[in-house]
Amino acid sequence: MNTGSPVLVEFIRSEIRKHGPQSFAWFMQQALYHPEHGYYSSGRCAIGRKGDYFTNVSVGSLFGQLLGAQFAEIWERLGKIDDIVIVEQGAHDGQFARDVLQSVQKRAPGFFEALRYRIVEPFPILQQRQQRTLEGFREKVEWRDSLQPFVGVHFSNELLDAMPVRLIGDGKEKFVGLDGDKFVFVERPLSQGKDAFNRAALDWVDQVAANLHRGYVIAVDYGHSGDEFQGNLHVRAQHRHLDSPFDQIGYADITTHVHWQSIVERAQSNGLRIAGFADQHHFLTGIVSTWPDLLQARPENSTALSNQVFNAGVDRRIKRQLQTLLHPELLGRAFQVIALEKDSGAPRLAGFKFGRDPKSELGLIE
Ligand SMILES: C[S@@+](CC[C@H](N)C(=O)[O-])C[C@H]1O[C@@H](n2cnc3c(N)ncnc32)[C@H](O)[C@@H]1O
Repeated sequence: MNTGSPVLVEFIRSEIRKHGPQSFAWFMQQALYHPEHGYYSSGRCAIGRKGDYFTNVSVGSLFGQLLGAQFAEIWERLGKIDDIVIVEQGAHDGQFARDVLQSVQKRAPGFFEALRYRIVEPFPILQQRQQRTLEGFREKVEWRDSLQPFVGVHFSNELLDAMPVRLIGDGKEKFVGLDGDKFVFVERPLSQGKDAFNRAALDWVDQVAANLHRGYVIAVDYGHSGDEFQGNLHVRAQHRHLDSPFDQIGYADITTHVHWQSIVERAQSNGLRIAGFADQHHFLTGIVSTWPDLLQARPENSTALSNQVFNAGVDRRIKRQLQTLLHPELLGRAFQVIALEKDSGAPRLAGFKFGRDPKSELGLIE
């Protein structure tokens, strides 16, 4: 098989020939983030109906509208400060940012006035796409290529699942080697004292914790709450699941379930507190039940009749989006939402009002 970007495939082969089998984390880093030819860094990644897979964001603008309301509540929690930053990492084409900004501009003008939206984007080609999408909010949005200090909210949707992992299990580690020109897994006994399997994700927690002065980190992703790393890889291209990460290298997405427990333990050791953990179904239901007006869009300058016609259409569209986001067999159960917090006050955020105790959900010891 071993198909994909010819230059990238050849580069990976030559590195393995020079240095021997490489960890899967290294392979995944090249396949997704090689500076020129990776699936994300090259800008080849396509999300949505015509792309490789759907995300909460590509379902429609409702996801950003619901999260915008949650961010506005956080601003209130922080004492309606004059300067609050929403930091987003993994912003793809900027759609989520636009959905949030459009919504809070209408629903929460005081919050909109106080906020700056900061996209952390290391890849120039993605920055350019985001700038085009966010043309109408040029004054509000800034770009950085790495995290900087902030007070406010760090948000990500499906960022952690795309971070490189080592494949470890039963005292062994799977490396990527070659059989002729073909990539193969090579198993080796696990050497003691090596890095965690998800070092990239844990490093990310360290960086976010170091840069967050006050506020919340909200991460939405698919993962599991048990204490075992399951090491399941998902390889997706054009809405098909591929059997092997060695198919369509640089043209396919590779992800793994997020290991929430280790993320939270690392956050706690960095002085963050867990402020909520729920599946997406419960999280979004908490938001919708707190602010039901979010499900009633209205056109500007409308007459009674145009309102009726418009609302019938909006209703259908919103219902469809809501169903996809909430339904347990669609995205509602597969995704979880975690909130981490620093110096921001105790009451639960609206999104977690139906959530259970996060520490017992995650099997964390007091
Ligand atoms: C699965 S996509 C999700 C895109 C988008 N959030 C959505 O839900 O449609 C993962 C994104 O995370 C980005 N990413 C991964 N590591 C990153 C990092 N360290 N800094 C910023 N973006 C990163 C990738 O480039 C990619 O755009």
